Amino acid sequence: MCGIIGYIGEKNCIPIIINGLKRLEYRGYDSAGLGFIHNGNAHVIKSKGKVSILEEKINSNQYFSSLGIGHTRWATHGIPNETNAHPHFNESKNLLIIHNGIIENYQTIKTSLSNIGYKFYTETDSEVIAHLIDSFIHKGNTLLKSVRLALSEVEGTYGLAVIYNGEADKIIAARKGSPLVIGVGDGENFIASDVSAILAHTKQVVYLEDGEIVEVYKDKFVTRTTSDEEIQKEIHEISLSLDEIDKGGYSHFMLKEIMEQPESVRNSMRGRLLIPEGSAKLGGLDNVIERLLNCKRIIISACGTSWHAGLVGEYMIEKYAQIPTEVEYASEFRYRNPIIHPDDAIFFISQSGETADTLAAMKEAKNKGALALGICNVVGSSIARESLGGVYIHAGPEIGVASTKAFTSQLVVLALIALLLSRKLGMKAEEGKCIAEHMDQLPDKIAQILKLNSEIEFIASEFQDAKNFLYLGRGFNFPVALEGALKLKEISYIHAEGYPAAEMKHGPIALIDENMPAIFIAPKDSTYDKIISNIQEVKARKGRIIAIASESDSEIDHLVDYTIKIPDTISMLMPILTVIPLQLLAYHIAVKKGLNVDQPRNLAKSVTVE
Ligand code: M6R
Repeated sequence: MCGIIGYIGEKNCIPIIINGLKRLEYRGYDSAGLGFIHNGNAHVIKSKGKVSILEEKINSNQYFSSLGIGHTRWATHGIPNETNAHPHFNESKNLLIIHNGIIENYQTIKTSLSNIGYKFYTETDSEVIAHLIDSFIHKGNTLLKSVRLALSEVEGTYGLAVIYNGEADKIIAARKGSPLVIGVGDGENFIASDVSAILAHTKQVVYLEDGEIVEVYKDKFVTRTTSDEEIQKEIHEISLSLDEIDKGGYSHFMLKEIMEQPESVRNSMRGRLLIPEGSAKLGGLDNVIERLLNCKRIIISACGTSWHAGLVGEYMIEKYAQIPTEVEYASEFRYRNPIIHPDDAIFFISQSGETADTLAAMKEAKNKGALALGICNVVGSSIARESLGGVYIHAGPEIGVASTKAFTSQLVVLALIALLLSRKLGMKAEEGKCIAEHMDQLPDKIAQILKLNSEIEFIASEFQDAKNFLYLGRGFNFPVALEGALKLKEISYIHAEGYPAAEMKHGPIALIDENMPAIFIAPKDSTYDKIISNIQEVKARKGRIIAIASESDSEIDHLVDYTIKIPDTISMLMPILTVIPLQLLAYHIAVKKGLNVDQPRNLAKSVTVE
């Protein structure tokens, strides 16, 4: 998704912005650009493709500028090319804007500006903002007032930054629906869509809220509402270090993040798992716990991998807390005018906390009076701030586009929620203690599975040329089948489908032949015998089979081509273990195919548009 960085201070902004854009690469993008004021003139350098290509186009020694903005674009309006890349100029080429979001009424604005002589050079919705601001400057307004007047005409979402050589002592930035932070430095200040872009320079940040506009000078910043009231903003100290967002010696962020799971899962439970009491303590739910316990129904809403976590959560909550639970794609939920009651509790799961569909679904739920709760990774993200309560998953920054450690941490948090609710609703302490003890053992069991990395890499080499895959699981492991298939398709571009194993005979079995590998998630649990029958059905049709099986299971080896043996746990927690080999398998297949694992084509880390 588009990334934004801006700098004002005494230093040369060009290397600062280029490095910041590199830090934003993980969000996914197709082109990049940089704009700055040099000797009283505004300059723009843009390129299609990677930031490194942009960097090659810039001779840093040629320019020194202490005021600049940079952008990575993920195309929404207009193809990815150099022209459509940001920044965009106004007509007189003395004002530059970068924009993240979508201007819904850009055609109307474009037509009215065209009627008074403005020319448009790009296919983007964003360019209208530059000309609209320009039209107000021409009426004698200051830059700040021109931005405010322009934004009052704009419908849609924006994280916006503007510089103007007529007022070259400031950046104006504004937010509605797209994240934006101010980085507060010493004699220098920054703006960014994401703290990772500026973390090398400052850990002091201010989160802008929707409807706020800020003037950022080198030694101060002034924040106002769109109706021009000044607001005092709190400065937050970021605890992440740059090391935490580096690859830490691994060849890809995805592998680093898979390998971090013993620690990230431990962090998700830290201080929350009460083993002697057989319960959980979740401070973010304290204020809403009575309402949550009395709700008639729980809904879980999310997208992608977070939605898969929600499915596991449904099984956990229904099995133990016995509260009716439904799982909804946020993108569908927000548009189908769902029936929501004030006695519904709705958990919105989002690693980034910025997914546009999930955020919009949350706003819809709040408007209808439901208890809207967040399960997020990114602290201070939009969904976390909009929620009435919730739980951070504390997985640490997840940079690889394919979500891995966030998924297992989401499952841990859902298990903690299920445990807390169940105990408060009558589960016996002994049963709660058993669950808590098994949760406590998860990090060691994950570490044990990660030792199978080379074995899984070998299996990947055997299957790297397959054109299709079927992933099959039952019960708690059905959502893991969906997640395994999603991991494979998003990074290896191999078609893969996940199914409840029993559904196979209702259609997918027609696909089975020697060219269709099937991955069965078959730990020894209550559905084991059934899944063995499904395995035999595939074997009878010459399908090649990989099984994720319990280490205590010696019989399954005779039925399948490859087994990956994992430790046992209770069925509710099994997905936290069974998904690990599937993450590694997808990773190794994609690496063997020579693909860009961390930034797969067409995908973005944080989908902040509909
Ligand atoms: O940040 P979120 O959890 O809200 O993101 C939701 C999906 O976009 C995300 O899980 C996506 O499916 C991942 N690329 C999957 O690996």
